[in-house]
Amino acid sequence: MGKPKVLVTRRVPQECLDILAPHFEIEHHDKGTAIPRPALLKKVADKEGLLCLLTDKVDEELLARARKLKAVSTFSVGYDHIDLRACAARGIPVTNTPGVLTDSTADFTWALLMAAARRVVEGDDDMRRGRYKGWDPLMLLGTDVHGKTLGIVGFGRIGQAVAQRACGFSMRIIYHDTRRASPQAEAAHGAAFVPLDDLLREADFVTIHTVLDESTRHLIGARAFGLMKPSAYLINAARGPIVDEKALVQALKSKRIRGAALDVYEWEPKMAPGLASCRSAVLAPHLASATLETRTKMGIMSAEGLVDSLARGARSPYLVSS
Ligand code: GLV
Repeated sequence: MGKPKVLVTRRVPQECLDILAPHFEIEHHDKGTAIPRPALLKKVADKEGLLCLLTDKVDEELLARARKLKAVSTFSVGYDHIDLRACAARGIPVTNTPGVLTDSTADFTWALLMAAARRVVEGDDDMRRGRYKGWDPLMLLGTDVHGKTLGIVGFGRIGQAVAQRACGFSMRIIYHDTRRASPQAEAAHGAAFVPLDDLLREADFVTIHTVLDESTRHLIGARAFGLMKPSAYLINAARGPIVDEKALVQALKSKRIRGAALDVYEWEPKMAPGLASCRSAVLAPHLASATLETRTKMGIMSAEGLVDSLARGARSPYLVSS
């Protein structure tokens, strides 16, 4: 009997392919862009395994075409692109890459926060365009980070890692989540649980680390911006649709809030009209886990998940649904 056929939907670290190769016959879309949807729907037809990315929608339509599919592994911690219920109904296990990108994502959240608060990108742009004419006491004044209040929406692994880094800045830390963290987790970070509206009213920096689902879609919209301080910043390195991006553009343009730093977008890779011209927004192209070390670990973990589910028929430790 031949090896099970698997589809790898994008250019991935070699370490990932090395783990898959002994077990599977691999069809590899070795490119930096996604497989167009019609081609993806054709390619999955004869595959037993799928190693996909967050840009590949694994929904009823795809599953109906992928009649031989026995396992899905996503090269991401987020799995909002996968219809878990539809996979479970077909007995298809889904694995992801939890844990390995927590610290890199928290590091990058801080890069975004600092860049927005201290106007690093605007300064860089001014330097490159020859606009800097010498030191000026009132030029590009930003906002102090130390001693301020950090509001963390979603206090899971990544939210807590962001809190850990805030301790070095002597910040007051408040958080909101659907469930309160353990007293130990709160004490470890000196973080206080507050209702979401209180967090929005009190935080100088609101940073989002919750999952995207129907309860968090547009969680931060016009109403939330209305509650935030005019001096506050919004940071989003979680998922774009958690923020109503058109409302954000409005809030930035009307100076309802001071600034924003985004790594993700509501209609990624597109941006809401007007966002690109907001100087008070720092805009990154979904880079939070983008370090060589972390992407390598994600590649290894996503491959191991597929090997567990498909080659070993085992319950993978990286299972998100069954
Ligand atoms: C990145 O956004 C991920 O979910 O891994």
